[in-house]
Amino acid sequence: MQIQVMKEIIGILAEQHNAEDDQLKKWIALEGETLKNGKEEQESLEEELFQAADKVRRAVYGDEVYIRGLIEFTNYCRNDCYYCGIRCGNLQAARYRLEKKEILDCCRDGYRLGFRTFVLQGGEDGFYTDNIICDIVSSIREQHSDCAITLSMGEKEKNSYKEYFKAGANRYLLRHETASEDHYRKLHPDSMSLLNRKRCLFDLKEIGYQVGAGFMVGSPYQTTNNLIADLRFLQELKPDMIGIGPYITHEQTPFACMENGSLSLTLRLLSILRLMFPYALLPATTALGTIHPDGRELGLRAGANVVMPNLTPRDVREQYTLYKNKICTGLEDAQGIELLKKKIKQTGYRIVIDRGDVKKFY
Ligand code: 5AD
Repeated sequence: MQIQVMKEIIGILAEQHNAEDDQLKKWIALEGETLKNGKEEQESLEEELFQAADKVRRAVYGDEVYIRGLIEFTNYCRNDCYYCGIRCGNLQAARYRLEKKEILDCCRDGYRLGFRTFVLQGGEDGFYTDNIICDIVSSIREQHSDCAITLSMGEKEKNSYKEYFKAGANRYLLRHETASEDHYRKLHPDSMSLLNRKRCLFDLKEIGYQVGAGFMVGSPYQTTNNLIADLRFLQELKPDMIGIGPYITHEQTPFACMENGSLSLTLRLLSILRLMFPYALLPATTALGTIHPDGRELGLRAGANVVMPNLTPRDVREQYTLYKNKICTGLEDAQGIELLKKKIKQTGYRIVIDRGDVKKFY
């Protein structure tokens, strides 16, 4: 590995918000080169990448960190994704659903704590018909007119997405998971399709949602080429939010023996995303905070500008186990949020009370 070449690629990314596949590959596959160059050299090189990303992040978003109140409202799911702990095939999972009142209580508590975005995330659960979702969304909209409502509940018909939007939802998170057909097939049963997932994302954009896509880093069978395809797909979609986090194994899945994704590759990809998509909202995800105690702070330093503390009621929070050891301490009470503020301030950023909309549409 030529250090100089690696540095030049950072410059190209910062200037052009793009790079050739081969150049991206060099940064993605950095670990393979570590033995030749030594860990120290890799780390100082990575530090340069993080700093370049941080510079871009500060140019667009300053030192602001947006918080999103995550409400995991159901862990029932009709899908059977091989990596996910709440897959329908996991008969050991204890299932729960939140009622409308519980969801509204979460929002009320979150509002008092300074949250101005609520994210309703759940499995694909047929119990919540479009009418029920619209009723919940419009009640939140009524009670919190100054807040953004984000939905993250999987693949639906375009018409359903339209109804939710009319009811007052503003944003939708739907990770594409992987943009490569062959890789997609290794992670999902035949009943699911990458084409439909992509269709959903484009429909959501067309309706007017701020849209979030994303993928897991180090998911089973993922190759460097798969990651390049993910970046290229994102360039095509031009999402407002991009969520990435390391794959973390879960015992009650067919992937129980698979290794976790790596912290440093996730951080490098966050930086690459910041350089390629300067205006994107990039969360330092829960999964990142799970594989390393300072994961989220490291994520912010590498270019992320969003954190999503958990507002789910304590008694069911542990049941939303997408993966092993998922942090669910939450920062839901006033004390927790103060602690988070302090940690983030120490990292050089500032939590703000703000909807935290994307600064510019592409
Ligand atoms: N490890 C990390 N992330 C996971 N997700 C699901 N299962 C896992 C896992 N085992 C992610 C998926 C999904 C999001 C809600 O959580 O990318 O879109």
